[in-house]
Amino acid sequence: MKYVFGNWKMNLGIRESVALGRGVARSLRGRERTPEVAVFPAFTALSEVYKALARSRVNLGAQNVGVDRSGAFSGEVSPAQLEDVGSSYALVGHSERRWIFGEDDELIARRLRACLASKVTPVLCVGEPLEHREDGSHEGFVADQLKRALSGAVIRNASQLIVAYEPVWAIGTGKTATVAQAVEMHTYIRSVLSTLIDADANEMAVLYGGSVKPENAYQLLREREIDGVLVGGASLKIRAFQEILDAAMDVMSAQEG
Ligand code: PGA
Repeated sequence: MKYVFGNWKMNLGIRESVALGRGVARSLRGRERTPEVAVFPAFTALSEVYKALARSRVNLGAQNVGVDRSGAFSGEVSPAQLEDVGSSYALVGHSERRWIFGEDDELIARRLRACLASKVTPVLCVGEPLEHREDGSHEGFVADQLKRALSGAVIRNASQLIVAYEPVWAIGTGKTATVAQAVEMHTYIRSVLSTLIDADANEMAVLYGGSVKPENAYQLLREREIDGVLVGGASLKIRAFQEILDAAMDVMSAQEG
């Protein structure tokens, strides 16, 4: 199984989101084996996109998730509210939350625990800034992010959590990690996860994100260590996203045969 997730970030109004969601659903129609596909619209569009996708194979995700079930947390959207609107996934600790809005590991751990207590599957994003890649401390940096995010969390089943490796220097920059760099980090992330969770880390989905586009999707997805891709910019253009979905389907049929 491969995963193709599209993070629309702070883009598109309700009407445009519904149209794009329908386009994604159309790309999967009639296909025999499809990847697990989810789109992550803005909070304001979740409800309408959910309705538009109700009879499709496309799932819904949110770009962030609140710290508790309910309460005095202005501006937060709880996991229960995301469940309510039909969201199956939520990003937790996306690099833009960490680096633009200052979300720290403690806050991210809180969001993750709240999400784990609901039916919404968290997609925990980790990844090193450029200076840590350049001075060779990227593994330690990502290991610390994983340890801190998972502190106090109990994971007994690999399907409870998805991890996305998104090197900060590759997000929105057009600069993708090489396949070798991604594979190496995914292997490393699994080895760290195996010390932190009670489930089999080899069964956990680890996605790659950072300038994924039609030109590199197949090469990334055909690696067994790379369970899928989290796509930002290219998920906003239906043609580009369709080509990434096609790449995932090509890989799935090649690996099946
Ligand atoms: P990008 O974004 O594909 O535009 O680099 C990826 C992400 O932020 O998840």
